[in-house]
Amino acid sequence: MSIRVHDRPDVQQFLRTLSGLEQPGGDPRVKQIVHRLMSDLFKAIDELDITPDEYWAGIAWFNAIGAAGQAGLISPGLGLDHFLDLRMDAKDAELGIHGDTPRTIEGPLYVAGAPVEHGFARLDDGRDTDGHPLIMHGTVYGADGKPVPGATVEVWHCDTRGFYSHFDPTGEQAPFNMRRTIIADDLGRYRFRSIVPKGYGVPPGSPTEQLLSALGRHGQRPAHIHFFVGDDAHRKLTTQINIAGDPLVDDDFAYATREGLVPDIIEHPDANGAEADGITGAHAEIRFDFHLTALVEGEDNQRVERQRAAA
Ligand code: DHB
Ligand code: FE
Repeated sequence: MSIRVHDRPDVQQFLRTLSGLEQPGGDPRVKQIVHRLMSDLFKAIDELDITPDEYWAGIAWFNAIGAAGQAGLISPGLGLDHFLDLRMDAKDAELGIHGDTPRTIEGPLYVAGAPVEHGFARLDDGRDTDGHPLIMHGTVYGADGKPVPGATVEVWHCDTRGFYSHFDPTGEQAPFNMRRTIIADDLGRYRFRSIVPKGYGVPPGSPTEQLLSALGRHGQRPAHIHFFVGDDAHRKLTTQINIAGDPLVDDDFAYATREGLVPDIIEHPDANGAEADGITGAHAEIRFDFHLTALVEGEDNQRVERQRAAA
């Protein structure tokens, strides 16, 4: 038995009514979006014959996602964050913007207000004793191919358990551990010392994991380091690098891996000249340059406003 009521004139009228299209007040853009999404949802219920039990299971899941504050966690899992990146890429292609460092998703775990350092920063507080020391460094280049002195490099990553400070379920990490804002030096260079992060997994037993499991998927990310890079004359780049060799580099539940964002990781058996950064022995090194793009008609059209944690 297939029941289809979506196209009936009374249901079409009902969609206009419930979206406020016949009300003078409210926000026209919100009405437009709600009308479209509700129409598509009604249609899906018809065509897939979604039962009331299935529908209410979905509502219970939304409530659980909201109560857990995980809408921003499942969003990349369902590919929406990557889809928004693909749209920004297409927009750039249309504008003839290319040759820059690829963008990739921000993820939900940025925290504003990290300590600001000039040229060099140590990100970790040394308490993650399983951590393999890491030196990462490079130059920020502008749209003209020249270094950008004073560029801002915001960096954040998780520890060897896959936990981010401020979101650590054990509460063990100090605020802003493994988070810094580095101001590039006079030659546009940034450099930091930290530990090589490990992969991340969505919280076990969470509604995010529950949906992924129902899809037969895992909720794991390969080890990665997040960045916001920019200055007043350039667009703000949102990106990440992956730690090469992680078995999940090409199997990221958040679909953030992109060509050009998996730099080589060089293993040094000794300090190799990094003594001034406090390195005394074996460590890893990543060299990675950022290539920024010019503002578009004086505007940063890739700056994204979203709700973010701040401390
Ligand atoms: C998620 C976590 C991350 O660390 C990240 O970079 C992207 C997404 C998440 O839990 O959805
Ligand atoms: Fe992350």
